Amino acid sequence: MSDSTRPVNLKKHFIAFDTCYPLVNGRLTRRHYLDSAASTLALRCARQVADELLAHYANTHSQAHFSARIVNHAYDWSHRQVLNFVGSTDTERHLACFSGTGSTASLNRLARILAAQRPERGIVLASLMEHHSNDLPHRKYAGQVIHIPLMGTAPISGAVDLAALERLLKQYAGRVNYIAVSAASNVTGIVNPVHDIAALAHAHGAWVVVDASQFVAHAPLAISDTGAAERELDAIVFSGHKLYAPGSPGVMVVRRALLEGQEPDELGGGMVDEVSVSDYRVTDRFPDREEAGTPNIPGAVQLGAVLNVLQRMGMKAVHAAEQRLLRRLLAELTAIPGVRVYGDPDPERTPRLGVVSFNLAGLEHGLVAAVLNDYHNVAVRNGCFCAHPYVRELLKPELWELEIDPDADDADALIEPWRGMVRASLGLYSTDEDIDALLTGIRELQAHPEKYRVQYRMDRNGHFHHQTFKVSPESLFDPEAVLNRLCPDVKPSLN
Ligand code: ALA
Repeated sequence: MSDSTRPVNLKKHFIAFDTCYPLVNGRLTRRHYLDSAASTLALRCARQVADELLAHYANTHSQAHFSARIVNHAYDWSHRQVLNFVGSTDTERHLACFSGTGSTASLNRLARILAAQRPERGIVLASLMEHHSNDLPHRKYAGQVIHIPLMGTAPISGAVDLAALERLLKQYAGRVNYIAVSAASNVTGIVNPVHDIAALAHAHGAWVVVDASQFVAHAPLAISDTGAAERELDAIVFSGHKLYAPGSPGVMVVRRALLEGQEPDELGGGMVDEVSVSDYRVTDRFPDREEAGTPNIPGAVQLGAVLNVLQRMGMKAVHAAEQRLLRRLLAELTAIPGVRVYGDPDPERTPRLGVVSFNLAGLEHGLVAAVLNDYHNVAVRNGCFCAHPYVRELLKPELWELEIDPDADDADALIEPWRGMVRASLGLYSTDEDIDALLTGIRELQAHPEKYRVQYRMDRNGHFHHQTFKVSPESLFDPEAVLNRLCPDVKPSLN
C-alpha cells in the first residue's frame, strides 16, 4: 500500500508534518520525523475539537450551567471512546480512567492497588523487554519482580518466551500476582502475544497488566481477542502523547473488580460522597473515584477525538499501511553491511510494529543521531530508551566483543558511549521519503566516517556537538517571541 493508497491520506492533517529546519550546508529542508515511538505529532482535527471545547470551558465538577453540562458530556464521551477503542462495551465490567501525562501514572497506581489486593501473592513476572514504567513500579510495590526471558538470542531476540513463562508460573504456583508485559516494545517494536499470555496467566490464577503505549496507535488491540473471558486482559494502559494527542493524559482500562475495595491513591475533590472534619467517605462511582481533582479536560477530549478518528479509519488499515513502510525499512537496513538491527528482523516469524533500533559498526549511536539531524534533517532518538535491561541484553554480544562484562555493576561507566542504539520509528504521517532520507544519511556516514567525526566533540554524557554548526533552539522557537507577536499590546509592567 503506497502513501496514495492509504485508507485516508492524513499527512496534511498533522501539525508539524512540514516543519523545516536549516542544515549544515545552509539549506532549509523539511524535517523527517522518525521519532514517533517517543512522542507522535498532533492530529490537527482532534486538537481543534479540544480548542473548540474551550469556548464552553468549565469545570466537570460543576453541573447546573450550560457550559458545565457541555463539558461533562464531552468528558464522558472521551471515556466512552477509550472503551470502544479496545472493544469494551460492558461498562459494568470495565472502566476507563485518565491519569498523569502518560502510562507511568496508571502503572504506578495499578502496581500499588494490585499488590494491596493480594499481598499473599508477592511475585510479579515482567518481561525482559519492559520500559522502566512497566518494571520499576512493580519492583517498588511487589515483593519481587522476576523477568521473563525472550525467544531466541541477542541481538535478534524475539517476543516473550511462552514456554519459559509457563515454567515460571508453575515454579511459583500460587505466588504470582500478575504478569506485566508490553503489547509491543518501544525499543524493537516486537509484538507480544498478550492474549496467549493472559490465557496462561489466568490458568494459574494470575492477572495480566498490558502496557500498550507503543501499540495502540499502530494496530488494533481488543481487550479480549476472541471474546473469551480467559483471554481477556485485566488492565491495559496507554499514553495520549504516543497517540497523536500531545498534552493529553494517560489512560487505563481496567476490570472494575480489580480496583474495588482499595482506597484510591489520590484523594481530593470530586471523588468523595461525604466529608466531615473527622471523616470522609470515598464514592463508589467510577471513574470519579480514581480521578481526584479537576481533570485535564481538553487533553482527554483531544485524545477521545483521536481515538474516534482512528476507529473511523480502521486500525487494520492503519496497521497495513505502516507494515509496508516497516518491511521496507527492515529489508533495506539489514541489507546494508555494517548495520546491526536489534530484535528478530523477520516480521513473519516475529511480528513487530513500526520501530527499528540499530547501530552502525564502529560508530557511536550519539554521533549517528547527531549527523542524521545536522546533515539530513532526520529526527531519531538514540540511547537506551528507558529500557536499560532490554538494551543491555540486546547489546551483549557486542559488549563481549569489546571485552566488557555487560552484567558487571560498573558496566555502565565502562561501556559509554557504546551502551545504546539509534532508533527510527514510524507514525501515520511517515513516508517513503523519510526512509530514503534515513538510508541516505546512513550510507553517507558509513562512506566517510572520519569526515563527519572530526566535525564533532563528545560531551561527558555521550552527546555529540557539531564544532561549527550551531543553531540555538530559541532561534527556531522562543515562547516569549511568540507571545510578543500574539499580544503586542500587553507590555511588561514597570512595577
Ligand atoms: N518512552 C519513550 C521512548 O521510548 C519516551 O522514547
